Amino acid sequence: MTAQNPDAEALRRLLSGRATCRAYQPRQVPEDVIRSIVDVARGTASWCNTQPWGLTITSGESTEKFRTALMEQVRQHPGLESDFPFPDEYKGVYLDRRRKAGFQLYEVLGIARGDKERREAQSFENFRLFGAPHVAIVTVPQELGTYGAVDAGGFVCSFLLSAQAHGVATTPQAALAMQSRFIRRYFGMLEDRRVICGISFGYADTAHPVNGYRTERAGVDDILKLV
Ligand SMILES: Cc1cc2nc3c(=O)[nH]c(=O)nc-3n(C[C@H](O)[C@H](O)[C@H](O)COP(=O)(O)O)c2cc1C
Repeated sequence: MTAQNPDAEALRRLLSGRATCRAYQPRQVPEDVIRSIVDVARGTASWCNTQPWGLTITSGESTEKFRTALMEQVRQHPGLESDFPFPDEYKGVYLDRRRKAGFQLYEVLGIARGDKERREAQSFENFRLFGAPHVAIVTVPQELGTYGAVDAGGFVCSFLLSAQAHGVATTPQAALAMQSRFIRRYFGMLEDRRVICGISFGYADTAHPVNGYRTERAGVDDILKLV
């Protein structure tokens, strides 16, 4: 399918050029670039234009301190403490897609299916922020409920694409929402803020094999019903 105009092509290029980054260079993203990423992403639509998303972004020493504290927290309290319920179960096509993406990840890292130790170590990388020099914590106020979370999801997508357009790689991470209470306390956030996810970001380590695979998407006819 060929789009007929340059804007659609540019958007397609950004969407298909983006991939979740799981290894970073230590190099910091300049503050003016971070501000520009957010400036573009703030154009996201929201119900009643409430713009309920809040962003806390770390850099330099504040990332290092948070990374250390988060890893320690997870070692001590590895359980799930998310503000939004995690999926009960993956079934059918959702389970298939989840498995496929997981197998691709382990394959590229040379982790055997039965190697629980290395799988767990790779999963723990989430809390090391995959070595990223920055993390953005995305929150919404509790009282806006599910649609507040929907609005924030739109903002997350805009942030990923805006970062991509600025040459900055990203990792959306629900894993960080597993530690919502800790994150609220750590950053001194108001009690009514609900953690949607984290987005680690920075410049991709393109030589690392983990950044060398791409996930697939269902075709238009698999998701669209024209009636
Ligand atoms: C809301 C959200 C939460 C995610 N949480 C995690 C996570 O905790 N850890 C992780 O490694 N990837 C996470 N991902 C990345 C997905 O696994 C990834 O987007 C998906 O497999 C498609 O691959 P792609 O981003 O490379 O296109 C998350 C993505 C989204 C949108």
